[in-house]
Amino acid sequence: MNERVEALRKAGHATILAFESSCDETAVAVVRDGREALANQILSQIDRHAVFGGVVPEIASRMHVEALDPLLDAALSEAGMTLKDIDAVAVTCGPGLVGALLTAVSYAKALAYARGLPLVAVNHIEGHVSANYLAHPDLEPPFACLVASGGHSHIVLVEHYGEYRLLGQTLDDAAGEAFDKVARVLDIPYPGGPLLDKLAEEGDDGRYRFPHTHTPGKYDFSFSGLKTAVINQAHNLRQQGEKIDAADFAASFRRAVVDTLVEKSVAAAVDAGAASLAAAGGVAANRLLRRELARQGEAAGLKVYLPPVALCTDNAAMIGSAAFYRLMRGEAAALDLNALPSLRMFA
Ligand code: KG4
Ligand code: ZN
Repeated sequence: MNERVEALRKAGHATILAFESSCDETAVAVVRDGREALANQILSQIDRHAVFGGVVPEIASRMHVEALDPLLDAALSEAGMTLKDIDAVAVTCGPGLVGALLTAVSYAKALAYARGLPLVAVNHIEGHVSANYLAHPDLEPPFACLVASGGHSHIVLVEHYGEYRLLGQTLDDAAGEAFDKVARVLDIPYPGGPLLDKLAEEGDDGRYRFPHTHTPGKYDFSFSGLKTAVINQAHNLRQQGEKIDAADFAASFRRAVVDTLVEKSVAAAVDAGAASLAAAGGVAANRLLRRELARQGEAAGLKVYLPPVALCTDNAAMIGSAAFYRLMRGEAAALDLNALPSLRMFA
């Protein structure tokens, strides 16, 4: 093992400079000992992609390249540090868009090589889970975690730092993807999830009826059937000349997704013997999901942990936190690290 990694491991401390560029946010953070974000800089490209109705990979990559330098300067300045204060460099290596991932992977590799610093490769999903360590100083494994984002939806048991057991997952669409696609039929601009959520706050969630999907696995979920049923219902109502009440429609759809996510994650956590349940990923910003997880989780005897909304969506602080625990296990990456667009968290 690299001597520098071994020295950091022995000391049990590390200040990590972390990079994230897997989708449409460029982010650079400085994280101390896995728990404290000293800087958390994010540049969202959403406005640039919104006109196309989704992320355009080529544009995303180009914008990451432009943003990395100034964001690094801003992060160091926010932390009141220079590169001399940094002990290791971390980067998201997957999953995500290959071109987008490659920008920060190349940048982090160059920086680690030039400064002679250890490089730590982080799985984006593990990063989302680790956002909880930044938000909740008392949270320690084991705990269950619902990770729901635009590309992934899993229920995991965090057995130890960096060690996960899959309890359940989506069999098709991710929850965020379903939110974004249903938002589109309601003419809500990309990314639809947050705006659909806001609209749903004003709506009656009992007005429209949508099917509940049954899955063979007790803790698995499926959103593709629901999404198609909801989109078809919108088209049918319009063909019949009926006006759709967007707020009620959004509220009814949100209720169907949230009921499934909450019911399954609370059951999975209780059955796995976990005392706590955390949430992570962009969909964990959803207002109803947060209220229901807290209510139903606590009713089932679980301590519920919700990161602040800013740490639910993509950021680099979560990558710095996950990297700390990888580093403390001696898991540094080699300089031939590549972007891994289909990287999985479970074999
Ligand atoms: O974790 P994230 O920022 O990026 C991925 O790793 O995918 O998640 C983005 C996803 C998008 O699908 C977005 O619509 C969804 O999270 N999202 C929400 C909310 N905020 C973000 N979905 C529902 N309600 C929200 N408030
Ligand atoms: Zn994400």
